[in-house]
Amino acid sequence: MSQPRLYGELAYLWPIISPPGEYLEEAEVWRQAIRDKLGQGRHRVLELGVGGGHNLSHLTGDFQATAVDLSPQMLDLSRMLNPGVEHQLGDMRTLRLGETFDAVLIHDAITYMLTEHDLAATFETAKSHIRAGGLLIAAPDWVRENFRAPMVFHWERNGVINGSDIQVTVQEYLHDPDTSDTEIESVYTYTIVEDGQQRVEQDTHTTGLFPMATWTRLLREAGFQVETVQLPANEGGYGGFIFVAELGK
Ligand SMILES: C[S@@+](CC[C@H](N)C(=O)[O-])C[C@H]1O[C@@H](n2cnc3c(N)ncnc32)[C@H](O)[C@@H]1O
Repeated sequence: MSQPRLYGELAYLWPIISPPGEYLEEAEVWRQAIRDKLGQGRHRVLELGVGGGHNLSHLTGDFQATAVDLSPQMLDLSRMLNPGVEHQLGDMRTLRLGETFDAVLIHDAITYMLTEHDLAATFETAKSHIRAGGLLIAAPDWVRENFRAPMVFHWERNGVINGSDIQVTVQEYLHDPDTSDTEIESVYTYTIVEDGQQRVEQDTHTTGLFPMATWTRLLREAGFQVETVQLPANEGGYGGFIFVAELGK
C-alpha cells in the first residue's frame, strides 16, 4: 500500500493543515494520563508514528522523548519542531530498537493499522519497548461504535512556510467502501494557494476501523490492562478518547 501524499511530497503542508497549537488541550490529557499512572518525573517516552511531532511538542518539556515514523519527510518536520528528541525511521509493526521506555505513545498514526494482525503486531512492538509496569497510550481516530459514514469535513488554514504565504482549504470525504472489512477511506482534496498561485491536489488515506472489543481484547492478549480516558470535544468528533494500557509488572 502506498503512503498518503500528505506524508510524502505534500508533507510540508502538515504544519499548516494541522498546526501544533491545535494539540495543546489534548496533550494535556496525555500528560495527565502519564503522570496518573507513572507519577512525577521526567519519564522516557517513545512515540511511534510521530508525524510532524505536533502532539509531542507539548510533552517534551516534561518527558524525555524518542520518536519514530515511516516517513522521512514527516521525521524532518518533527526534527525541526522537536530538536532535543532522537528521531528514527521505522515501522511501528516491526520496529525493534533494543531498549525500553517508561511509556510508548501512539497518537493518530495507529489509525493506519488496517487489520487485527497489524494492530497485534504494533502492540507487540510497544510491549517490547516498555519496561515492566510501563504504559502504552493509543489514540484511534474512530472506533466502530462512534463511526458513521459518509462524513464530510471541511476546513481552511493559512501560514508561512519558507517565506511563502500558503492557504490550504481541505475537504475530506470519509466513507466505508466495504463494510465487510476493517478498512475505511478518506478522500482528501487540498486547494492550495501558494504565493497567489492556486492548485488542487487529491489524496486518499486508507485507515483501520475496529470495535472497542477488538482493541481491548488485542491489548489484553499482549499483556496490557486497559482503560479509556475521554478527550476534550473537537470539531467533527475525531479521536474521542485514548486507550491507556498498563503492562503487567
Ligand atoms: C496523522 S500523522 C501523525 C501526526 C502526529 N500525531 C502529529 O502530532 O503531528 C500519521 C503518521 O503516521 C505515520 N505512519 C503511518 N503508518 C506507520 C507505520 N506503520 N509506522 C510508523 N509510522 C507510520 C505516517 O508516516 C504519518 O507521519
